[in-house]
Amino acid sequence: MNQNETPLFTGVKEHAAKKPTQFHIPGHKGGKGMDEEYRDFIGENALSIDLINIEPLDDLHHPHGMIKQAQSLAAEAFGADYTFFSVQGTSGAIMTMIMSVCHPGDKIIVPRNVHKSITTAIIFSGAKPVFIHPELDDQLGISHGITPEAVKRACEANPDAKGVLVINPTYFGITADLKKIVDIAHSFEIPVLVDEAHGVHIHFHERLPLSAMQAGADLAATSVHKLGGSLTQSSVLNLREGIVSHERVQTILSMLTTTSTSYILLASLDTARRHLAINGRQLLEKSLQLADYARRKLNEIPAIYCPGEEILGSEATYDFDPTKLIISVKNLGMTGYDVEVWLREHYKIEVELSDLYNLLCIVTPGDSEEDIELLIEALSELSARCSSTHQTKEVEVKVPQIPVLSLTPRDAFYASTEVIALKDSIGRISAEFVMVYPPGIPIFIPGEIITEENVQYIRENIEAGLPVQGPEDDTLETIHVIQEQRAFK
Ligand SMILES: Cc1ncc(COP(=O)(O)O)c(C=O)c1O
Repeated sequence: MNQNETPLFTGVKEHAAKKPTQFHIPGHKGGKGMDEEYRDFIGENALSIDLINIEPLDDLHHPHGMIKQAQSLAAEAFGADYTFFSVQGTSGAIMTMIMSVCHPGDKIIVPRNVHKSITTAIIFSGAKPVFIHPELDDQLGISHGITPEAVKRACEANPDAKGVLVINPTYFGITADLKKIVDIAHSFEIPVLVDEAHGVHIHFHERLPLSAMQAGADLAATSVHKLGGSLTQSSVLNLREGIVSHERVQTILSMLTTTSTSYILLASLDTARRHLAINGRQLLEKSLQLADYARRKLNEIPAIYCPGEEILGSEATYDFDPTKLIISVKNLGMTGYDVEVWLREHYKIEVELSDLYNLLCIVTPGDSEEDIELLIEALSELSARCSSTHQTKEVEVKVPQIPVLSLTPRDAFYASTEVIALKDSIGRISAEFVMVYPPGIPIFIPGEIITEENVQYIRENIEAGLPVQGPEDDTLETIHVIQEQRAFK
């Protein structure tokens, strides 16, 4: 196969260049029938390939032509046996992975700090989660991954589980020994499903952690749009054949996918794959150099800490992706969110995420030396301002407790519920998700017993201005809980 080729992008462009008279959707017909301001802004080229699955352009639901060829090239580039394109983000790919291996009532071993798409898939499939507690870093206030030892114990206790799900790397770029986890799960003939939302690039540079396919995992939902250069919402699902059947995956993916698949998104996956396969290593080398420089300089700034390989060494912190800059700002005496706002207002800098104690900045082939210098300059100024106003102080880090699951998420989601004040909900069973987004990791999921510590944690996040989401009541004054029958009036 020739990785320089882009069968899908080329095919779609050639089709548009013929300027066919279109009696099919989309009704804007190359932009002619749409709002003028939007058309002028987006441009003719993009609109000319905003097409749907007419015969010459293949069909994502039954790929047999240009989409099939593009997916085969992607499989070769990602080291997979099969690659499926997703136009519904990595969330769509994750739901497909889980629903491909779990039937109602089946067990799935998952870390508790999973993205909400995983819990959603568990609800839809009716699977029973066996939660593994992730390792918590109480210096930084973040969760890492799960350890091989914890996976081994979970598999021994649940040899009938239908999957082990691993987040690799985490949002913050940390990985466990994935190869070891795969070997353990496979010794029980349990497939390994990897949430690789933050790791499409790691396959393409030897200094980066092993990718899911390199480690021998069975399925990986891999966000090409996040760090691989395709358009937002486009993603892939990689499969290594053996335990999981590709026919089953294709069927489930199709059930969960719109019939109006965007060719703008699909074509961007085809070209991102080419770019990664041909130029990925060289581009990542530059990103790594920029990130190394940034980390060194950030660590020279008083009260700022940007962790590097010194945090490795525990079972859950086996390797890391240096292009993720975790910037601990707790010693500035400000929350991560306040620093995020300060950077926006004073330097027009937008970070990937903030939490109570940290910022996360990602370095990609889209960054330049000037971008990095601006970040260093901005944080140097902030640090100097804080120390001149004596704001810097050591802060005690808190991480949310992992609540006890008393009902399966599905039973809780579909149970009779009532709405009560959040302050009165301690000890009740949540029927809703509550999470800070980003990163979208739940503080409560349906079925968990609400704890005072976590209600307090929610309050602290709200007071800090962080985006706590999930419940129907977006003020978070009230929450849906499972109705309880009282024995006495
Ligand atoms: C760990 C993790 N998994 C899955 C997802 C879902 O990805 P997408 O937004 O492409 O649906 C995200 C998104 O932030 C994520 O952080």
